[in-house]
Amino acid sequence: MSKIPRRQFINQAGKAGVALAANSLFSRAARGQGMVNTATRVAIDASRQIAKLDRNLFGSFLEQLGRAIYTGIFEPGSAHADSNGFRTDVMEEIRGLGVPIIRWPGGNFVSGYNWLDGVGPRKDRPRVLDRAWNSLETNQFGTNEFITWCKQVGTEPLFGLNFGTGSVEMAVAQVEYCNVDKGTRWSDLRRQHGYEAPHNVKFWCLGNEMDGPWQIGHMVAVDYGRKAADAAKQMRLLDPSVKLIACGSSGPFMPTYIEWDRQVLEECYNWVDGISLHRYYGNSEETGGDSSKYLALNLAMDRQIEEIIDVCDMVRGLKRTNKQLFLSFDEWNVWYRARSGDAVDGHRKEAPHLLEEVYNLEDALLVGGLVNTLLRHSDRVRVACLAQLVNVIAPIMTDKNSVLRQTIFYPYAWALQNARGNVLSLAQEGPSYEVPQLGRPIEAGGAAMSGLGRVPYLDVSATYDAAGGSATLFILNRDLVKPRELEVDWQGVTPTKVISSQVLTGSDLKATNTFDAPKRVVPQPLEPPRAGRSMTFQLPPRSYTAVTLAV
Ligand code: AHR
Repeated sequence: MSKIPRRQFINQAGKAGVALAANSLFSRAARGQGMVNTATRVAIDASRQIAKLDRNLFGSFLEQLGRAIYTGIFEPGSAHADSNGFRTDVMEEIRGLGVPIIRWPGGNFVSGYNWLDGVGPRKDRPRVLDRAWNSLETNQFGTNEFITWCKQVGTEPLFGLNFGTGSVEMAVAQVEYCNVDKGTRWSDLRRQHGYEAPHNVKFWCLGNEMDGPWQIGHMVAVDYGRKAADAAKQMRLLDPSVKLIACGSSGPFMPTYIEWDRQVLEECYNWVDGISLHRYYGNSEETGGDSSKYLALNLAMDRQIEEIIDVCDMVRGLKRTNKQLFLSFDEWNVWYRARSGDAVDGHRKEAPHLLEEVYNLEDALLVGGLVNTLLRHSDRVRVACLAQLVNVIAPIMTDKNSVLRQTIFYPYAWALQNARGNVLSLAQEGPSYEVPQLGRPIEAGGAAMSGLGRVPYLDVSATYDAAGGSATLFILNRDLVKPRELEVDWQGVTPTKVISSQVLTGSDLKATNTFDAPKRVVPQPLEPPRAGRSMTFQLPPRSYTAVTLAV
């Protein structure tokens, strides 16, 4: 294997200051010597930070949909239920994960939801038809139950507001109900319902996917932007501390992608704090079932984030303001199997089995890649939600008696447990492969995706926690066949010990965990190299690795 001297690489990497293009000095030097290079090199300088990690980057989502709430987290009468009807076994799992923020109640559901149906005495709450998922909503779980549940779990609520059938007046009323102390119509109603102290909900999504023709109350961008601005002004008057998130495009497949975001922001930029992004990935039409393309799709997330940052900053220029918006990637995950027919139609039943996607090993590897992407954009993506958390496109599944960890549970858990302190900017170079084009996305009528160009075999992110004295590397090996070598050179800190080193891998990319066989895809220990200033890792093919070092 060809090598340029390590010091030279680090020095040049340091000067470049950003992740090096795949075709940079190392590759050129190797080509010049007529040799094949196989190792990836990463120079990590502890002083080169992207951002201080905001834990809200690894939030999640619970929609009033399928079995997410009913029989998922809330099942009065279950042997596992507490006095509130909350499933304690599920709560324990979520508490153990340490999920910082959870979006609720939707999703498409929220665009037809009357929050007043879900507050007050349970016996008086109406049973209504949820038209988003054609399901029966009993309203036994509503605003106050969600807040109580969040407190028990130790998470923060991120509320979605109904901008579909809902008026600005009722959206503002919901903020008043939750956040005003007393002495007004809606705050006093909350008190009457038994909740004296305000809930102080900080984060609010102004609607959901309002660009989508599938959305109840779908609008054109300018109308939505004006409604969002109007609502936001009133909400800020009630509570100046709220963080308001405008509805961005539902994804790059939308014919109005970018243009929607620009028009919306031109109307409401000065009144909101962030804009939402959504994206679901799959190994089907888009990739033609080719797993090497599939494992590269987190780079499409990088691109989407960068494009939306550009729109935000362009509108900032138009508005001649210093204010910078944050991005809220409040729906992201793999979702392509349980997406049609009975999987999305509740047939007017209570708690139907909807969107119960079964995840395999390759899905977990991509989720790891998506975690890496979020980390390297943590300067602008300040909130993100794995969609969703329980039973519906979820890492956690329940049956009557128990809880199952799907494959995607593990990369998500590692992000929550091991990403600490600052996210670091890495200088990387190494071998790559070409993904020249992608197929049409799964979304009906969606615009075709462009290719991804050169895709590095190894995708690496890192965090460094000076106070805790640790650093973590997250590494996706996209090579389906071969192990890959990663040479890491540390600057500014020297690892002294490997605290933990785990890998998710296997011979069968399609392997899943089931209630009968829950441990087919679980983390395994990875033999780490000796800790030190230079470390060479051997990464198995088809793998995602998290290594935490004492520094
Ligand atoms: O998360 C499932 C659905 O996907 C949500 O309800 C909607 O917002 C998105 O299209």
